[in-house]
Formats: sequence, structure tokens, C-alpha cells
Amino acid sequence: MTKPVSIRFQELSLDEIAAATGAVVVFVGEDGKLDRGAARVNRLARGAVARLVENAAFADLNSGDVLELAFPAGLAADGVLVVKLDRRCGHDIARKAGVNIARLKRGRPMLVLTGTHRMGDEIALGLALRCYEFTDHKTPNARPEGDVTVMGVTQPDAALDVAARAEGVFLTRDLTNAPANILTTQTFAERLLALSDLGLEVEVLDEPALEALGMRTLLAVGQGSDSPSKVVILRWNGGGDEAPFALIGKGVVFDTGGISMKPAAGMEEMTMDMGGAGVVAGVMSTLARRKAKANVVALVGLVENMPDGKAIRPGDVITTMKGDTVEIINTDAEGRMVLADVLWYAQDRFKPSGMIDLATLTGAIVIGLGHHKAGVFSNDDALCNGFLDAAKDEGEGAWRMPLDPVYEPQLKSRVADLQNVGGRPAGAVTAAQFLQRFVKAGVPWIHLDIAGVASTPSDSVYAPKGASGWGVLSIDRLIRDRYER
Ligand code: BES
Ligand code: MN
Ligand code: ZN
Repeated sequence: MTKPVSIRFQELSLDEIAAATGAVVVFVGEDGKLDRGAARVNRLARGAVARLVENAAFADLNSGDVLELAFPAGLAADGVLVVKLDRRCGHDIARKAGVNIARLKRGRPMLVLTGTHRMGDEIALGLALRCYEFTDHKTPNARPEGDVTVMGVTQPDAALDVAARAEGVFLTRDLTNAPANILTTQTFAERLLALSDLGLEVEVLDEPALEALGMRTLLAVGQGSDSPSKVVILRWNGGGDEAPFALIGKGVVFDTGGISMKPAAGMEEMTMDMGGAGVVAGVMSTLARRKAKANVVALVGLVENMPDGKAIRPGDVITTMKGDTVEIINTDAEGRMVLADVLWYAQDRFKPSGMIDLATLTGAIVIGLGHHKAGVFSNDDALCNGFLDAAKDEGEGAWRMPLDPVYEPQLKSRVADLQNVGGRPAGAVTAAQFLQRFVKAGVPWIHLDIAGVASTPSDSVYAPKGASGWGVLSIDRLIRDRYER
């Protein structure tokens, strides 16, 4: 597991500034007034901060932007980062400031003088999220990551809350970045079992159990792999006796496409095809760490889509747990087959008040929305708008897409109740439409197609390129705002 940057919170202690090494960070509002921390740094540096603030370069900055004074006289630090930040800024801008600070960190220790700024914890969250690096498989680097000390007034629970959210996002990123020879269905299940240390109830269903439940469609996807298929259930019971909210994740640890094999170029990206399950795991870790007052159940379907003598073939007909039969036209449309059974089982066993599934489901959503926004499909306007608001609030891109019976004919099969692909037109919509067949009437549901956002080819807002952890913050926010007592 990648070691996250360590962030310590403490009260402002002006006497420690002169000797601090690495970088010292100060915040100056639009009015150019220096707070106590900035004033002390300015005095030690013989007026350099005030000169910068009076310079046109400072006037040109947007709220959240940073300028660095290098090698200031009077301080042990080798840089002072001056952050322009409105005192009344929202948490989005505060996080952006944290991200901008992280970009200039370069492994140095940092002393961050948030002082009385209300958004100290959000600055720290942005900083923590953007300092992430996936180093599990790099031989150890000589330069250790310097620790961060945040000096200021923070709410007593704020530090815990920042850590809960950051750790959740990091878990998602670590899982999603992990190569498929390391993160197998078995080791994934073990990583989830280890979350019981946080107070989560964890249960692993193995192949005989899945067979007994009739999850033939999920098992069909995994039958060409040597790694056994599994469904893992995580429960957080922080609420009263109300029905749980359910989170369901696609956990294809590697997607070769199966017999309908993918082309070689770019196939290595399919190590991230368990990204939906990764987000679900991250959210559950956050909920447990911050002891959320809600009941949430998570289910992930862990399989590997490989071609071999036992693999499913195009033309095969499989019976789902629900009882509907599916004709497999393309073995690469495997995610919907995994989710069909897990969605059905989640409703059958837990009678959830609502559910969200997350899946790196289609290349079509990447063509439609790129790497900036996830596709949002829902049968319930209230739940959907709640999620879209949460995503907007958290700065995670999301865009609603349609569900509509007009797409249904594309899923008609000659021999079975439905087929697993709907052709090229509206590929992401027909995939969602397929999933809706396994949602019971009256259950509020959102399907998030995260194929474009789970892992990005260049840096995203809060993450370096690679796994982003997209969705952990939005779903945590949705649960906070909508389901906590
Ligand atoms: N895992 C892929 C979708 C994907 C594509 C995820 C790009 C991340 C980046 C999924 O299982 C898949 O192969 N979908 C097919 C469906 C098609 C065969 C109907 C696709 O999108 O091409
Ligand atoms: Mn596939
Ligand atoms: Zn897939």
C-alpha cells in the first residue's frame, strides 16, 4: 500500500516558523492583509511577503493560486509559498489551493499556516489528495516524502474527517492502480476482509455459494479464469433499524474480453476494470473511519474475464439469478453480466432503500463524455439530483444520460429473453438499459458508468494520472446529506 503523506494538525505556534525546513505556506486574502502567521514570516523574511503582495503578480492571481518566494533570507526554509485565498472562499477553492500547494511540494516537509482560516481542513484535504503517488512497485526511492504540519484552528473532528475521506480515496486508488497479477479475486477479497478492522462486517461468498444462489451469469464470466469468482459483502450499520442503502461494484480484476478478445494495444489498461468495486471499498472505508450514522451495504462481484477451454463463447445462453435468460453475443460485454446477478441478489437479500452501482462498463461512455465526467443513469429524479448536487459540490464531474424504453429493442435476442449487447449506437445507454432489467420496480437506483473517470491518462483535479478515486467523495457526501440521522 502506498504510504500517504502524513499530515499533523496543531495550534499556531509562531516561534516554530523560523526553524522550519522545506516550505512554509502562508495565506493572504484578496485585501492583501497579512494574518499573524503571514506577518511573522514577512518579518523574518525582511518584508518579502509584503512586497510580493503589493506586486502586480499577486493582483493577477486567482483565489487559490500560489506564488513561491525561493530561498528567503531569515528563514531556514528554502521556500515560502504565498497562497492567495479569499477568507470567505468555498471549499472547492480551498481544496484547489491545497492541490496547488501539493504541486509545489516536491517531497519537501511543509509547514502550512492556515491560522484562523475557516477552510483549513479543506485545504489539508486537497493537499493530501494531490500528494498521492502509486509507488508500490517502484524500488525504494532515496528521497522520503516530507511530512506536513498544518498550524491553525480546526474543529476537533476535522482532522479525523479529512483523514477518513483521504484514506477512502487512497484505498480506491491503490486498488484501481494495482496490477492484475497482484490484485487477483483472492487478494482483493483478502484486502476487503482486512477492512473488518475498521468495524465493517465482511462476508465472502465463494463459487459453491454463488452456484447455490443461482448466480450463473456472474460465474459464467469468471469460468475461463484460474482465479475463483467471489462476491464480497461489506456492511456498515451506523444507523437505526432502517433499510440499508446499497452500493454495488463491478470488480473485473482483468478484462481480456474473453473469447471476443480485445486488441493488444492498450489492453494493460484493463487492470482498472475493477474500479467500480474499488470505489465501493473506498466509500465503505470512509464511512467506517468517520463512523457514519447510516446503514450501508456494499456488494462487489470479483471475477476475471479470461479466454480458455472453459470460457463462455458467443452464442452461449445463460440463466441469470433473476431467471431471465441471456444470449452472449460478445464475451467482452461482461460487466453487465456480473452486475445483473449482484444487483438482483442485493435487492433480494437486503431490500435496500435505494442503490447505486458503479462500473467501468463501456468504452462508449468514454467516447461520449471523455475523462472529465461519469455517465449517470437513474430511474429516480430525486435520488439522481441528490447525487448530481453532491458531485458538483465535491468537484467530481458527472452528467445525466437517458434511460428510455425506446432503446429496448436493441437488446432483443433471437433465442433468449435478451442479449448482452445492443450494437454500436448508444452503447452506454443500452448497457444501462440491460442493468435496469435487474432493478425491481420502485427501487430508486443510479448506475454510474465510470469507464472514463476511474483512471485518467493525464492528471485530474485531485490526482496524478492513473487511478483518480472518482466517486468516493460524492457518494460519501450523498450519504451524509441524505441518509444520516
Ligand atoms: N471494461 C470494458 C469497458 C471499458 C472500456 C472500461 C474502456 C474502461 C475503458 C467493458 O467490459 C467492455 O469491454 N465493454 C465493451 C462492450 C461492448 C462489447 C458492447 C465496449 O465498451 O467495447
Ligand atoms: Mn469487457
Ligand atoms: Zn470490462
